[in-house]
Amino acid sequence: MKCRKCDQKAVINMRQHKLALCAVHFPQWMVEQTQRFIEKYRMFTPKERVLVAVSGGKDSLSLWDILWQLGYTADGVYIALGIDGGFGYSRKSQELCEKFAAQRGLKLIVVDAAQQLGATIPELAAITQRGKNKPCSVCGLTKRHILDQVAREGQYDVLATGHNLDDEVAVLFGNTLNWNVGYLSRQSPVLPARHAGLVRKVKPLCRFYEREMAAYALVRGIEYIYEECPHAEGSTTIYYKTLLNQLETDRPGAKLSFYLAFLQAKEKGFLAQPQTEDDEEGIGAAGEHLHTCPSCGGPTTLEGLCAFCRMVEKVK
Ligand code: AMP
Ligand code: FES
Ligand code: ZN
Ligand code: ZN
Repeated sequence: MKCRKCDQKAVINMRQHKLALCAVHFPQWMVEQTQRFIEKYRMFTPKERVLVAVSGGKDSLSLWDILWQLGYTADGVYIALGIDGGFGYSRKSQELCEKFAAQRGLKLIVVDAAQQLGATIPELAAITQRGKNKPCSVCGLTKRHILDQVAREGQYDVLATGHNLDDEVAVLFGNTLNWNVGYLSRQSPVLPARHAGLVRKVKPLCRFYEREMAAYALVRGIEYIYEECPHAEGSTTIYYKTLLNQLETDRPGAKLSFYLAFLQAKEKGFLAQPQTEDDEEGIGAAGEHLHTCPSCGGPTTLEGLCAFCRMVEKVK
């Protein structure tokens, strides 16, 4: 198959767009599209300072690479979670982020979660949940807290994460199966800052398929960690992703249209009712009043210590 824009061999065929592109035109297209999404969803302007949350994976490093090429002022932040999984998952991820930043002369902030918490994530899960559950919820809470804190202290205007279309669609699918209206009301490419202790959150890659992100990283020669977090195995998200991949195989473009139709429905006012509940991806629902945690200054749905500070208290 040939590239739509030149005669060279295509490296990717994007069936949902009926578009095949070569190793030169594909990364160019990805960069242009990202800029389009940034403008369309009013994510940030060239004057604003962006903090990119990098995990060492293909999505977040590619996002940083794209923003760098677009000329944005974008620093990176990596949270060392102390997860080993028998292959040094966290250590390897950190090294890849550091190498990426050094190669491009970019600033990377590294935060050691264990130093802040007094325990690694797996240790923390063992203490707070008596080892009963996977450490993923403790990990998610810690990551969100530290990312908000770094963004606030560094006076960044916006925090960007590498969530891709497959991630967003899996979340959307799960929330729709459960008719979780509160979560659905807040799932968006842009989450405005609703509290002094929060910054705006954006997902510039939310319309790219995972395979497009993998192809981009490959073509650009970005070294990233191939392994998933060892605790992700057997997760509901992975199960939903498998189901959705099956759907996509039979109906190319199904994931993208599911997501875009959802965003459109939301724009038209479907899901306008804010609901009160705690959330995986942030705190409280769209219209809910937030209190300030007396310990860290972060937001909380109830008065008193926030969920993160309560967890840290338990460790002490
Ligand atoms: P995940 O929750 O692992 O699917 O990651 C979603 C996004 O969160 C990634 O694309 C990154 O932007 C960010 N992220 C995940 N892990 C880390 C980490 N250890 N440090 C900083 N950002 C992270
Ligand atoms: Fe946090 Fe896997 S990345 S538990
Ligand atoms: Zn071409
Ligand atoms: Zn707190």
